[in-house]
Amino acid sequence: MKRWAAAAAAALLALQLTACGGNPAPAENGTAAPAAQSEAQAARGKVLIAYFTWAENAPEADPAKLDMDMPASASVLLPGNMAKISGWIQQETGGDLFSIRTAEPYSNVHEEVLDRAAEEEADRARPAITGTVDHMADYDVIFLAYPNWWNDMPMAVYTFLDAYDLTGKTIIPVCTSGVNGLAETVEAIRQAEPGASVMEGYHLKSTDIPSSEQAVKDWVHTVYVKG
Ligand SMILES: Cc1cc2nc3c(=O)[nH]c(=O)nc-3n(C[C@H](O)[C@H](O)[C@H](O)COP(=O)(O)O)c2cc1C
Repeated sequence: MKRWAAAAAAALLALQLTACGGNPAPAENGTAAPAAQSEAQAARGKVLIAYFTWAENAPEADPAKLDMDMPASASVLLPGNMAKISGWIQQETGGDLFSIRTAEPYSNVHEEVLDRAAEEEADRARPAITGTVDHMADYDVIFLAYPNWWNDMPMAVYTFLDAYDLTGKTIIPVCTSGVNGLAETVEAIRQAEPGASVMEGYHLKSTDIPSSEQAVKDWVHTVYVKG
């Protein structure tokens, strides 16, 4: 079992035990079904899709050295899971893509990236990122796409949020994970960007991604309307 999966199982057990004390059990895997938005509630305007994906933040990996039974390991191969999903969002919205990349790449070895990510999360680090979004002021809607890393966003996504004041914009969180869902990431985005309107997050399990292109595209039209 992956280290984060073992930690997730222990946390879920603890939550279930708490639930026995009277609190309702949490939704399985913390997966939030996207709320149906009426056309009037859907976002409009110029779109940016800002995404973080491990494969674009590590040297190219050798497929022969990966444990292909582990979807989390396989996600280091281009295109990464979030890049795939972001591409589908781009096709439906015509938005601009921005890949969040750290100045210091991560390892392409799963155990090593787990260690660095855990340390960064414990330190609430803000790893430096490269590149900037040109004309951020022009965007109305930001799809923010990230993998669940240790039940949180990769810390580089916080670096990205710290770099811009997104007041007045609509942020649509999009997350993939092995098992843990969105966790508390939507709340974290709301705290980081208090002036933005942050919609309910959309989550996909990494193993469901290969069969989810149409579902993602259909969902996009429930949260965003062109024009
Ligand atoms: C450093 C690291 C930490 C992860 N932590 C978790 C976790 O806590 N819970 C979970 O469900 N999945 C976790 N995963 C799995 C990823 O969320 C999942 O594989 C995701 O689809 C990867 O997306 P990407 O290919 O765009 O990077 C982790 C993966 C990595 C590399």
